[in-house]
Amino acid sequence: MRRRRKYWLLGLALLLLVALLVPVSGENARAGGLTLLLLAAALSYLSGSHLITKGRLLRSGRGRSLLYAIPISAAALFLLSLLLLSYSGQGWRPFVSLGLAATVLSHFIGRARGRWRQEKKKVPARESALAHEYLDGLSGIEIGGSAHNPVGLKTINIDYTAATDTVYKQAEFEICGKCLRVAIVAQGDELPLFDDSQDFVVTSHGLERLPDPIKALKDWYRVTRKHGYLFMIIPHKERTFDRDRPRTDLAELVHRHRTGECPGSDAHHSVWITEDVVELIDYLGWKLVEAQDVDDKAGNGFTIVVRKDGSADAPPREVGDPATAPS
Ligand SMILES: C[S@@+](CC[C@H](N)C(=O)[O-])C[C@H]1O[C@@H](n2cnc3c(N)ncnc32)[C@H](O)[C@@H]1O
Repeated sequence: MRRRRKYWLLGLALLLLVALLVPVSGENARAGGLTLLLLAAALSYLSGSHLITKGRLLRSGRGRSLLYAIPISAAALFLLSLLLLSYSGQGWRPFVSLGLAATVLSHFIGRARGRWRQEKKKVPARESALAHEYLDGLSGIEIGGSAHNPVGLKTINIDYTAATDTVYKQAEFEICGKCLRVAIVAQGDELPLFDDSQDFVVTSHGLERLPDPIKALKDWYRVTRKHGYLFMIIPHKERTFDRDRPRTDLAELVHRHRTGECPGSDAHHSVWITEDVVELIDYLGWKLVEAQDVDDKAGNGFTIVVRKDGSADAPPREVGDPATAPS
């Protein structure tokens, strides 16, 4: 709807231009020139607003072209208005500073309005009381953090890319008008960090996005210090768009880890209910200290908290692996 209004405005500007270019003399030229100046200012306002609300979302071709088309049209209208005004008795010079001031001012008013609209869209995010209970006063890393769903802990954010045109960052920007800065670019299951260097690893809606969760978990466990925590909020199959997909069982996870094969390319590589991840943690021989169902953050998942104990580095128990099990 908003996009249509912009095209409508551009069309109107063109029509006016054609109508006004015909009688180019005296009063008509002045009225026409001033109207075009007004239109240039209106387009400049739109460009300011568009820059704020969409400026960093350059993914879709249409958004990108509007980003440039609006200010270029504003500049073109501005020049045309001066051309028209040059046919009026007073010439174009007296209108230059007036026109420039109106256009620049409108641009900044547009930007201010863009910011105001973004503020209005913001939904207050809920932080997890459980996360604060375990992790306040500690410092760690977050895998795939976001500005719209902040954990509110002392973390540095790790993501596979720092680009702002991924679907994740676009959604983040759409929801809250900003993106959480990526401090370290790395695959979430290959962290460029020393062993035992972090108080905790936290992730919300991240583990299911990694094709080999066992590899990821082992890496997170590696970088966590003794008595530190893995704090994971994971989408629950029944409370997300995964409702109709089959659950990913332990045998499948072990198979992926042993072979490196991961079927499908769905955004969620794994589909779980709470018990599945509890079983996975048990398989790894680690200490589960909390399983919260429903999670107390977005409320569409569950939370698993693991504490790293020195004694928990025992090799995982054997599990029927479809790749190796006798037929
Ligand atoms: C669904 S978003 C979750 C955002 C936020 N934590 C939340 O709960 O709303 C998934 C995040 O994980 C990141 N991510 C996806 N695949 C990744 C990978 N292989 N390594 C590191 N981060 C990854 C995405 O870039 C994105 O920031």
